[in-house]
Amino acid sequence: MYSNLSNFSEDINTSFIVIFSVISFFLIAITVTIILFVIKYREKKNPVPTPIEGSVILEIIWTVIPLGLVIGMFYYGWMAWIPTVSDAPEDAIEVKTTARMWSWLFEYENGKKTDTLYVPEGKPVELQMTSPDVLHSLYIPAYRIKRDIIPGRVTNIWFEPRKTGSYDLFCAEYCGLQHAFMITEVKVLTQEEFDEWYIDTTAVVKAAATPGAEGLQILRMNGCIACHSLDGSKLVGPSYKGIWGHEVEVEKGGQKQTLLVDAEYIRNSIYNPDEEIVVGYSKGLMRSYQGELTDEDIDKIIVYLESLSDKKE
Ligand code: CUA
Repeated sequence: MYSNLSNFSEDINTSFIVIFSVISFFLIAITVTIILFVIKYREKKNPVPTPIEGSVILEIIWTVIPLGLVIGMFYYGWMAWIPTVSDAPEDAIEVKTTARMWSWLFEYENGKKTDTLYVPEGKPVELQMTSPDVLHSLYIPAYRIKRDIIPGRVTNIWFEPRKTGSYDLFCAEYCGLQHAFMITEVKVLTQEEFDEWYIDTTAVVKAAATPGAEGLQILRMNGCIACHSLDGSKLVGPSYKGIWGHEVEVEKGGQKQTLLVDAEYIRNSIYNPDEEIVVGYSKGLMRSYQGELTDEDIDKIIVYLESLSDKKE
């Protein structure tokens, strides 16, 4: 099981089995010996303790054998680990990966963006990972790889998928309230399927066909809906449902006031999220998207928010 899903799986599995076997053997052997000795050398049967002199041969045996075992375990671990931290092959597909509270963004060489990682079977893939907010960690258990993602730094990880299918990809570093939302998948396609997917732009065309679909796409790609629900439920921030065109009570500069949710309010909430906080929500949880989202993007988001409301402009 899971023995050859990535180029690293087999060696990591071997080192795991070696280490697990050794420790299991000693766990059982030592426990059994303790129990036997407790029975055999109990006080009732041996009222007078036998003096023990020590034994050079025993000392040598229980130093040399464990030393050999520990070096052996180290060898298997080292041999499995070194390739995972080596440089990716020259022909690796590069995918820019952004981990943020609380979603993933994968950006391919042709500019295509997704929240699920798509890769072709049998080709090395290198993820260049960064975070705009806090520490995250990319973990693909089936591939036996995990690496931290650090704000202000680019960390790399690479792998070669060996089998088509979908495998879990998630964040393995507790990164706040919705940490558990940072779960997605690696979808491994055959080379032909991948090529077709890679050049396919109909998804974008289809998105443009319904009003607000482009806006929804932007919200998804930027991870907004991890904190703002689309169905009215309360998460870290207010839901998007039914807010457009309605009045909302906010706290601004320590004072409560009522504002209309209009284009200006939406724009300000995205660029200066801490300025007008809806009453009942907390400051300091959202970062500014100034420089990440353009005014044009925000106009598209507004079209989508309108579609979720009974009030139209
Ligand atoms: Cu990101 Cu946990």
